[in-house]
Amino acid sequence: MGKMGIVMEIVLMIGLFAMTLGNGETECDLYTGKWELDSSYPLLLYNSSECPFIRKEFDCIKYGRPDRLYLHFRWHPFHCHLPRFDGEDLMERFREKKIMFIGDSISLNQWESLLCMLHAALPNSTIIQQSNDTIRTIIFQDYGTSVMLFLSHYLVDIEEEEDIGRVLKLDSIKNGDIWKEMDVLIFNTWLWWYRKGSTQPWDYIQIGNERVKDMDRMEAFRHGLRTWANWVDSEVDTNKTRVFFQGISPSHYNGSEWNEPGVRNCSKETMPVNGSTYPSGLPAASMTVQQVLSEISKPIHLLNITTLSQLRKDAHPSSYNGFKGMDCTHWCIAGLPDTWNQLLYAALIS
Ligand SMILES: *[C@@H]1O[C@H](CO)[C@@H](O)[C@H](O)[C@H]1NC(C)=O
Ligand SMILES: *[C@@H]1O[C@H](CO)[C@@H](O)[C@H](O)[C@H]1NC(C)=O
Ligand SMILES: *[C@@H]1O[C@H](CO)[C@@H](O)[C@H](O)[C@H]1NC(C)=O
Ligand SMILES: *[C@@H]1O[C@H](CO)[C@@H](O)[C@H](O)[C@H]1NC(C)=O
Ligand SMILES: *[C@@H]1O[C@H](CO)[C@@H](O)[C@H](O)[C@H]1NC(C)=O
Ligand SMILES: *[C@@H]1O[C@H](CO)[C@@H](O)[C@H](O)[C@H]1NC(C)=O
Ligand SMILES: *[C@@H]1O[C@H](CO)[C@@H](O)[C@H](O)[C@H]1NC(C)=O
Ligand SMILES: *[C@@H]1O[C@H](CO)[C@@H](O)[C@H](O)[C@H]1NC(C)=O
Repeated sequence: MGKMGIVMEIVLMIGLFAMTLGNGETECDLYTGKWELDSSYPLLLYNSSECPFIRKEFDCIKYGRPDRLYLHFRWHPFHCHLPRFDGEDLMERFREKKIMFIGDSISLNQWESLLCMLHAALPNSTIIQQSNDTIRTIIFQDYGTSVMLFLSHYLVDIEEEEDIGRVLKLDSIKNGDIWKEMDVLIFNTWLWWYRKGSTQPWDYIQIGNERVKDMDRMEAFRHGLRTWANWVDSEVDTNKTRVFFQGISPSHYNGSEWNEPGVRNCSKETMPVNGSTYPSGLPAASMTVQQVLSEISKPIHLLNITTLSQLRKDAHPSSYNGFKGMDCTHWCIAGLPDTWNQLLYAALIS
């Protein structure tokens, strides 16, 4: 082992020692840190041209994104060591187990990134795909591990009622019986709560027995999230099932947030925001998430990706996607969601 190798080992040992001392989450906050340029990153993970799971919405390089710098930023937590992603180790630990992402297209974004990371780590593993209207499943057959996606915009239900149309039921979670059979659950919901007009997929909101045409959307979000939180507390056996909630994934359509007033989208962004704090602070929805999650008594983990993602105004597809719209909401694959999955991995092995 060379001198550098020994130094690295020592750094690693100190990192591990700090983590054990820190008892995981309180001392060692993986979510506070900064983005560092590292030219060797992320080809350690995968080459997006060789990943068969990327939808046209996220495949930025294939659709002509010319710059590459956005691929070379590595998340560097201030107070602890972010372990290297080891796909083989993850599969060994979750042999015959089921990992499920549940939520909107941001969950899809993260699910596809994890599949690319696992596919690159286990190039010879046989993969079986099973899909139906509700669930998409990829099984890594050598391990019997399923990595699944359950699309649900609101987590709570939308039901068709004969007399009036589609009703968003803020008190009801009918899919929970499927979810609670899983071994790892990663939830997310936010994008759809402010949809109006033709993209709003419901006609009424129902709370208890009362139906209304509309209401304060943040209140609706809080109510729906509370229903989910109560479901976790009453239904999920957290001795068997690890539960994650993904913090708000930010968009970049308002340059005032990062001190470039007048900028209206992410089309010119090729660098992260400098520093470790986002000028406009956390989005209001993060406060709601924080409040509701603090009321849960079962152990759940907040995958607190909001600030670190706010800094990445450079990591969206913008117009480099297969539908040519301007997208500053989702994220390129390869790219930022790989870091979310490294953080998920770190939480799963701790
Ligand atoms: C999430 O991380 C950010 C950045 O470190 C921090 O400001 C925020 O308080 C964290 N949220 C929670 C609920 O811990
Ligand atoms: C990624 O894979 C493609 C297709 O195999 C190859 O042409 C390209 O050179 C690779 N890129 C890198 C950076 O290795
Ligand atoms: C995958 O299989 C090929 C051909 O059998 C072999 O050369 C290669 O080393 C294998 N890769 C891994 C990571 O096992
Ligand atoms: C969809 O697939 C899942 C597992 O792959 C299965 O449990 C479920 O019953 C299927 N649902 C329908 C409606 O076929
Ligand atoms: C989880 O495990 C702990 C410790 O073994 C036990 O006290 C607790 O009752 C278990 N909870 C459930 C819901 O099984
Ligand atoms: C843009 O961000 C600024 C700074 O956070 C805020 O004051 C303003 O209301 C935002 N504009 C819109 C249209 O959301
Ligand atoms: C994106 O922003 C640029 C400049 O900020 C503007 O010229 C362009 O029209 C915007 N594109 C879309 C689709 O909004
Ligand atoms: C980023 O911030 C650091 C320290 O706060 C400063 O030294 C550096 O010049 C800044 N870079 C840019 C591009 O603003």
